[in-house]
Amino acid sequence: MRRSLLDISAMHARGEKIAMLTCYDSSFARVLEQAGVDMLLIGDSLGMVVQGHDSPLPVSIEDVAYHTACVARGSSSVFLLADMPFGSSQVNPQETFRNAAELMRAGAQMVKIEGGREMAATVEFLVSRGVPVCSHVGLTPQSVHQMGGFKVQGRDSAAAERIIEDAKTLESSGASILLMEAIPRTLAERICDAVQLPTIGIGASARCSGQVLVIYDMLGLGAYIPPRFVRPFIQETGSIEAAVQLYVAEVKAGRFPGPEHCYGS
Ligand code: KIV
Repeated sequence: MRRSLLDISAMHARGEKIAMLTCYDSSFARVLEQAGVDMLLIGDSLGMVVQGHDSPLPVSIEDVAYHTACVARGSSSVFLLADMPFGSSQVNPQETFRNAAELMRAGAQMVKIEGGREMAATVEFLVSRGVPVCSHVGLTPQSVHQMGGFKVQGRDSAAAERIIEDAKTLESSGASILLMEAIPRTLAERICDAVQLPTIGIGASARCSGQVLVIYDMLGLGAYIPPRFVRPFIQETGSIEAAVQLYVAEVKAGRFPGPEHCYGS
């Protein structure tokens, strides 16, 4: 039976770390599920690692729905979370709901939406209509041009306070999970203390309830210099299955990310 949001929340409540990876097809879905991954994210990172673009911006809702259906067919027990790509959630809440519904019909159990307080009304609209939401703060790759590149966020105190307030607002708007990307470790820990909902980190802190990585990054397949938060698990193991098993074990034990994968302020 497929894990539900209640199962994920229960893991958080009992302090069991959540291991999450991105996934875009059915073969990887089967391997990652068998290796013990709890959640799969059909991320718009597919624009870079599958489609070969230099950002996730060209990814469409149809692309994410297609890959979500592939991942759903290749798995039976992991929780499935699909990304709302650029332009699909920045519109009005009604249009966002229609786009989210397309991902849910493809097999997603939750959608991920980038952005802070400006997305609060949209999060509330979706949640009140049966669509669970994971909010994504910190480095939000869909805003790469506004941010001037894939850069660590929240380094100065005003920016840090703003991200903390965004996190609290999104929680009050009904978000069920908060993902934080590329922020200083101390800021990530302040956010973990400020909210009750499960937190997922990528370039954040081992204190988060769980971790996520882009699968191709941890397998050393990225065509770019990997960010600091990537640990190339494949080099320590030699096979995809063993790399993913080690990732799951290290996340569950709270050993990944180590200080070398986190950012200072
Ligand atoms: O699209 C994606 O893969 C993501 C992760 C980097 C969190 O949003």
